[in-house]
Amino acid sequence: MTVTQVSDKVSVKDIEEYRGQLLDWYDQHERHVPWRIPAGETPDPYSVWLSEIMCQQTTVQAVIPYYTKFLEIWPKVEDLAAAKQEDVMAQWAGLGYYARARNLHKCAQVVANDLDGQFPDTQEQLKELPGIGDYTSAAIAAIAFGREAVVVDGNVERVLARFYAVEEALPKAKTTLKVLAAGFYNGLGAEAGHLAQAFMDLGANVCIPKAPRCMLCPISDGCEARKLNRQTDFPVKGAKKARPQRYGQVFFIKNSKGELLFHRRDEKGLLGGMLGLPSTDWGTKKQIAAPDFIDVDKPLKLKAHHVFTHFDLELELVGASVDESYVTEGYFWSDPYNEQDNLPTAFKKALKLYLNS
Ligand code: ADE
Repeated sequence: MTVTQVSDKVSVKDIEEYRGQLLDWYDQHERHVPWRIPAGETPDPYSVWLSEIMCQQTTVQAVIPYYTKFLEIWPKVEDLAAAKQEDVMAQWAGLGYYARARNLHKCAQVVANDLDGQFPDTQEQLKELPGIGDYTSAAIAAIAFGREAVVVDGNVERVLARFYAVEEALPKAKTTLKVLAAGFYNGLGAEAGHLAQAFMDLGANVCIPKAPRCMLCPISDGCEARKLNRQTDFPVKGAKKARPQRYGQVFFIKNSKGELLFHRRDEKGLLGGMLGLPSTDWGTKKQIAAPDFIDVDKPLKLKAHHVFTHFDLELELVGASVDESYVTEGYFWSDPYNEQDNLPTAFKKALKLYLNS
């Protein structure tokens, strides 16, 4: 994207100056996260890709232990490609947005098997790979390959919405914010990766949502929102939809060895491919049928709650039994203490309540 004038508020020359201030600040104040490498070293595209996929919708703090563990178990893209999908899903458990893990595994297989283990080095080619969209392709192209790609995540949107006092509401404002971001990247070349991470760090530590620390901000002089003393009015957000409530029952079924029945969920749909406990569907009404081979016993008077992006879930814990010879495909017995860390958080909460009761 070539940009000559992005805003009547700030000239191109001023943008270059602010960008310089931001990059100098980044040199001094860069966060120490394990996927960043010392100046002069060549980034490893596999590590950059892994970190960027994990960081989508997830904080750096939450990502670090997962990132470290993944690289320990699967140090190269070929190792991850050769892993069993259920092992990848188990290691991802707790990080949320599980489609990311399924696509991560698929992407590793494409890179390892079809591309000779080499990630493509342009944004367009990266976008062809499973699980890599606009943001991630830009981030990998800029950080791993020094391409002048415009990287815009939620942090960057917040910084720019404030810097330019953008009155247009999100999500519509995304297009405007991308153009404003492009103004900062214009002509930057291989330093785009630094600028991207400078914006990310500024958004995460200084230009934070509730109480921005403008005293620490290297570009506060130019910030329109600050001039108006309206920093927290930006970014303007469209009306939020209320999150609907859904209900479900989760069944605790023991065998004679004291093991519990677990369920590998279908590939498609919510928590697809993840480990779970036997459960009803999750719907807006409380009464939803159990899988037919399960004899429902009585409620355990315990409820687990979990917030998903699009709904709140109330899971009622219910005792149940099965005829062991009728346990069907996808279900298996296991020691709950061995499986608890392999479960996504909603089920993990329910299992914890059960084990502590
Ligand atoms: N969030 C997404 N990518 C990131 C990165 N490279 N560094 C810090 N936070 C990030």
